[in-house]
Amino acid sequence: MRPSGALPIFSLKKQHEALQGKLSEAFQRVLASGAFILGPELEAWEKEFGEFLGTRHAVGVSSGSDALVLALQALGVGPGDEVVVPSYTFFASAGSVARLGARPVFVDSAPCCYNLNVSAVANAIGPKTRAIMAVHLFGQAADMEALVKVATKANLPIVEDVAQALGAKVGDRYAGTMGTLGCFSFFPTKNLGGLGEGGMVVTSDPHLAEKVRKLRVHGAKTKYYHEFVGGNFRLHELQAAFLRVKLPHLSRWLKNRQQNAAIYRHSLTMDSDVLPATDHCECENVSPTQRDARNKMLLPFSCHESHTYNQFVVRFPGDGRRDRIREKLQQKGVGTEVYYPRPLHVQECFQSLGWKEGAFPWAETFAKETLALPIFPELEPQEIQKVASELLKAAQDL
Ligand SMILES: Cc1ncc(COP(=O)(O)O)c(C=O)c1O
Repeated sequence: MRPSGALPIFSLKKQHEALQGKLSEAFQRVLASGAFILGPELEAWEKEFGEFLGTRHAVGVSSGSDALVLALQALGVGPGDEVVVPSYTFFASAGSVARLGARPVFVDSAPCCYNLNVSAVANAIGPKTRAIMAVHLFGQAADMEALVKVATKANLPIVEDVAQALGAKVGDRYAGTMGTLGCFSFFPTKNLGGLGEGGMVVTSDPHLAEKVRKLRVHGAKTKYYHEFVGGNFRLHELQAAFLRVKLPHLSRWLKNRQQNAAIYRHSLTMDSDVLPATDHCECENVSPTQRDARNKMLLPFSCHESHTYNQFVVRFPGDGRRDRIREKLQQKGVGTEVYYPRPLHVQECFQSLGWKEGAFPWAETFAKETLALPIFPELEPQEIQKVASELLKAAQDL
């Protein structure tokens, strides 16, 4: 049991208390309409979401995981094809590839920002490669400028997995609008969390958008006439109505996340053994300090100024330190999470693909050493300061 005054890693309680009236109105509106599937709320939601991102086509779907499957299927990915995917990410980034009978070809992460290593992507491209999956991990966009160059040279489409990074930008372009298709999740913990499952596929290509729309309803445009084998991947009206209530608040919530991150940085870097983040990307030029990993704690590197901090992930170099520190924090009532304890190349379900421990050193290091702290927008500054101070205490002797 947690001590009283416990701080969870994530909570929507305050957000929903503030929006209760509007959410109830949305519920009543859908209830009264009698339209629950593919109705006016979804149509309006797709339009509003597309306008927010500045993208031409947005297709609401059942989840972020299904968005990835649909995007890949729209590109024609299937058995015999390969898709380049980072190993250090949520399962769905690669699971979506395998669900289509294709083969995920894993690559290691960049040493500093946890996103995929673009040079490794270039090396992983082969004759069977059909697409590249760019994951914008923890709320920060991957190095899209470099990745687009690699993809263009190889004439390959990029599917962006933006589940964790709605609102992140590179320059003035939103993550999800720089590749061929962008896939979003509205799982409750995301930057825009629904009241259940939900996802979106965006693209500027009208043909791909049309194909995703068909695949969402068993591959049919006209009911009962099936051009492809799709599935039931619809986002329902209630969820669309709730998400419409939330979207106008997104920019403020992202700002809150960034402010929370700044408080962490300020509070944590008072300890001289914490390696502060730089404001520039170190992916290609890792500092010796980081390579040696002698520091007590490494703060997240912010390679782009628009890091949305879906997660604030710190790193504790050293054998087992992360787990011991986590345990101590738990005893103090501070909720944390490990994203992700096992990289994908060594997951049981991918054993037949032949990757072994040691193949991707950074992914394996991150899996052992990283810890996510509470960062959700409704946290009070003093709550973050409390986490920071408990963290410094917990890390002191370990
Ligand atoms: C990077 C990443 N990709 C895909 C997904 C899948 O999204 P969903 O949970 O909506 O299926 C998630 C969700 O956790 C994610 O973090």
